[in-house]
Order: sequence, then structure tokens, then C-alpha cells
Amino acid sequence: MAMKVLVVGNGGREHALAWKIKQSPLVDRLYIARGNAGIWQIAEKVDISPTDIPALVDFAKKEKIDLTVVGPEQPLSEGIVDAFEEAGLKIFGHRKNAAILEASKVFAKNFMKKYNIPTAFYETFDNEKEAIEFVKKQGAPIVIKADGLAAGKGVVIAKTEEEAVQTIKDMFAGKFGEASKRIVIEEFLEGEEASYIAMVKGDKLVPLATSQDHKQVFDNDQGPNTGGMGAYSPAPIIDKETEEKILNQIMYPTLRGMQQEGRELSGFLYAGLMIGPKGINVLEFNVRMGDPETQPIMRRLESDLVQHILDILEGNIEKVFPKWSEKWALGVVLASGGYPKKYEKGFEIKGIEEAEKDPDVVVFHAGTDVKDGKLVTAGGRVLTVTATGITLKEAQEKAYKAVEKIHFEKMHYRKDIGNKGLKRLGLL
Ligand code: AMP
Ligand code: GLY
Repeated sequence: MAMKVLVVGNGGREHALAWKIKQSPLVDRLYIARGNAGIWQIAEKVDISPTDIPALVDFAKKEKIDLTVVGPEQPLSEGIVDAFEEAGLKIFGHRKNAAILEASKVFAKNFMKKYNIPTAFYETFDNEKEAIEFVKKQGAPIVIKADGLAAGKGVVIAKTEEEAVQTIKDMFAGKFGEASKRIVIEEFLEGEEASYIAMVKGDKLVPLATSQDHKQVFDNDQGPNTGGMGAYSPAPIIDKETEEKILNQIMYPTLRGMQQEGRELSGFLYAGLMIGPKGINVLEFNVRMGDPETQPIMRRLESDLVQHILDILEGNIEKVFPKWSEKWALGVVLASGGYPKKYEKGFEIKGIEEAEKDPDVVVFHAGTDVKDGKLVTAGGRVLTVTATGITLKEAQEKAYKAVEKIHFEKMHYRKDIGNKGLKRLGLL
């Protein structure tokens, strides 16, 4: 089969997906809308925004695209899958009515409550006064979440009551745009985060390898939350017993519940988990792969992602058995100075080739562009430097050695990606 495949999205996740899809013997031509400077090296650039759905449908029809794979949540929640299906085009991702599981935190929390899926105690609010009263009653720390999509930045962990009150005021004053017209306020959960991602269809699923992200911007989980500063796979925190619980108490009930709601899931499903004294709780669902989790996960996938997706779309999810490398994979995100707050763009990036001289290293791009023939920064998260190793320690050492070869002005990154895993293995 000589397939034409289109990947939609601009980030490190999409670079990793495109990198993996490119290796499939089924694929003849690979397109990316719109991508970044790294993806443009391996795929043909389609100059259409990931959220310009009518233009993407037109392009896919005209070019006779055989399969489209969607990276980010925005196009899914705006109905890209519905539009492609209506046009008779094959696409992997959830329809709009299922993507609400990520697009609305209020929906997700109410859904989890209804189907007994473990999650933090919460209330939802659409006005400031009641929200502030609730915070005064509950005390701090407490977590405040804008209802809608805010690119991973609509969640504030308030350490004090004053901070919580200020956040509530900011949210209702429109600081997070439309996303914060309604908010969720929930109990702060202690513990360690982990990501559980599967490919799903209806009430069935195929688990992907486990992983662990690092949300806070600074070492030892300090500072504000980001989209994710680094990840590794597998995640030792998810042992066999924990995985059974995740499947039986969270993943399958979610699939069945969404089916009962008439919102059948079909695509990647990601449960963001907090594992701690209160057991395993869902912090959020994402209707897509994680970024940066995808980067180490794709480094470990040995079987053909395109074949897996085709099998799932054809109703044969039972015959999908991904094959994983025995190796560990670890990715470190290199971010622009200031991220996740304000940052500058346009700095030249150097050293990627040098870093990739180690055959175990692959550098995935996120916010990068080409200006006057030079590779420059163009976003908050700029690169994910990944390495594989026989041990977690080896993957970590190789990744950080590669990081040292790369440079752009004001670059910053966490130095402790992988340490949680090493601690759990008794190696740190
Ligand atoms: P969310 O988008 O809901 O996953 O929230 C983003 C991040 O905020 C999570 O990855 C956690 O680091 C943190 N977080 C969210 N909810 C809670 C909670 N209830 N307790 C502690 N941390 C949380
Ligand atoms: N890495 C977290 C996310 O993709 O939401």
C-alpha cells in the first residue's frame, strides 16, 4: 500500500508521531499541517492552521489523503473528525461530542462523579462570590481550574487563601478568556503524577507504554505549571497491580460511561493521574497523546503505528498488540527563558546535529522556525531531547549529555527528569 498520511499539529508530540509514521512501510507520502522546522525535514509542509478545518478537509480531498492523524485537542474539540468523516475521509481522533471530556473540565468532573471514577472532591462555579465563599470554607492549598481549554495553563494550585481568592477574581475578570467563565475548584491531592495513555475505540482499548511527565517548570516540582518539561517511559510507579486498577477503575468505566452518554470515544485517551495517599485519582482526561510523553513513548514503539491505527479504524482493535523496546526512553524539554510566562522568540538554535551524533539520541522540535536560513526559536517549549538506554540511568545520562551540546539564548530546562523513577527503583 502506498499511503498518503497527513499529521495535524505543530508541537514536539507531532514531530514524534510524524517521525514514527514516516518509518512505516505503508506510507509513501507524509504531510504536516502546519508543523515546525523539525517536522518539515521529514514531511511535506501544508501551510494550513491545525484549526482551519474546512481548509484541511479541502486539502485532504484534493490530495486524496488516505489517513489523517490529529495531534492536539483544539481541532478535535472543534469537530475536525466530524468534518473529515462527513467528507468520507479516514481520520484517527475523537468526534467533537467525545472531545468534550478534555474540552470541559466541568463536564469531565461531573462525568467522573456520575460513573464513580476516582477524582478529587470538587464544586463548580459560575460566579465569583460563591467561589470565594467555598474557598474560605475549604482553606488552602486548593486547586482552581478554568472550565475550557487553556493550553495546560488554566490550572492554578493556590498555596494560600489569598492566592486562591486572587485567582478566582482573575478568572472571572476574563484573564483566561472564554475558558474561565465557569470554574472548577477542587481538593489539592498529594502524590506523584503519572500518565496512562491508550488507543481506544468504543468500549475497547490498547494500552500504550506508561510514562511520567514533569509539569512544574523548575527542578523538584517547583514553580508554576507548564505543558510539561520532560518525560520518560516506562514509569516504574505504574506497576502491574496499579495498572490493573487503572484499567478497571478508570479506563474501562470511562469508555463505557462515554458510550452510555452517546459520546463514543475513538482515538488516543490519556488519563492524567495522581497516585498518593488517597489512592489513584484522575486529575484530568486528555483526548490526545501527551506532550512530551509522546516523544519517549514513540522512541520505544517497535511495531507499526500506522498499521495499528488502520486496524483500530477497521474495527479490529482486538488484533492490535504494540511491541515495545526493552530500553528506557527519556526526553528533556528545552524551553525559552521566561516560559511558561512571557518569553522572547527568534534566537538561533545551535548544536542539534552534534547532539544527534549519538545514535541513541533524537531531538524533536516544538516551537522552531527557519528565518534567513537559520533555525530559530518560535515558541515556549522549543525542543525535546530524547535518548534511549538499557537502563533509566543510561537514558538520562545520554539525554543530558546531548542537551549540553545544544544552545540558544536564555534556554532553560529541568535537570532532574528521570530522578523520580530512579528513586522508585532504589537507585537514587
Ligand atoms: P490538569 O490540567 O487538570 O491536569 O491540571 C494540570 C496540573 O495541575 C496537573 O498535572 C497537576 O500537576 C496539577 N493538579 C491539577 N489538579 C490537581 C489536584 N487536585 N491536586 C494537586 N495537583 C493538581
Ligand atoms: N504533558 C501533559 C499533556 O500533554 O497534557
